[in-house]
Amino acid sequence: MPQITFHKNGQTFHGEVKSGANLVVRAGIKQFPFPHLAYQCGMGKCATCACKVLAGAEHLPAPNWKEKKQLGAHLDEGFRLVCQLWPEHDLELAQVPLPAAPASNTHPAGTAPATPAA
Ligand code: FES
Repeated sequence: MPQITFHKNGQTFHGEVKSGANLVVRAGIKQFPFPHLAYQCGMGKCATCACKVLAGAEHLPAPNWKEKKQLGAHLDEGFRLVCQLWPEHDLELAQVPLPAAPASNTHPAGTAPATPAA
């Protein structure tokens, strides 16, 4: 059974889950990683459950279209949507805020807000 290590707010939590168990579903029924894992939709639509994978990423499937849509470049930084994962191997996760988008991506060409006149 997969061992899950979960980091949040400077604390570390450990739990063992059934192979293929979804951590958001478990939290929803008040099992580990409840009450530590933040989540909302459980359907890959909000990114609230985003976590950085610290170990075990090599055992996870490639991100699905929901993760690609919600996380974009954050996938390359190691983030995944926990509600879209069904771990079958040990996994170490940290729930940290998604880094801000680079300034160059904040306003695509031609969409920058107008600067007020001085
Ligand atoms: S809980 Fe909303 S995307 Fe995972």
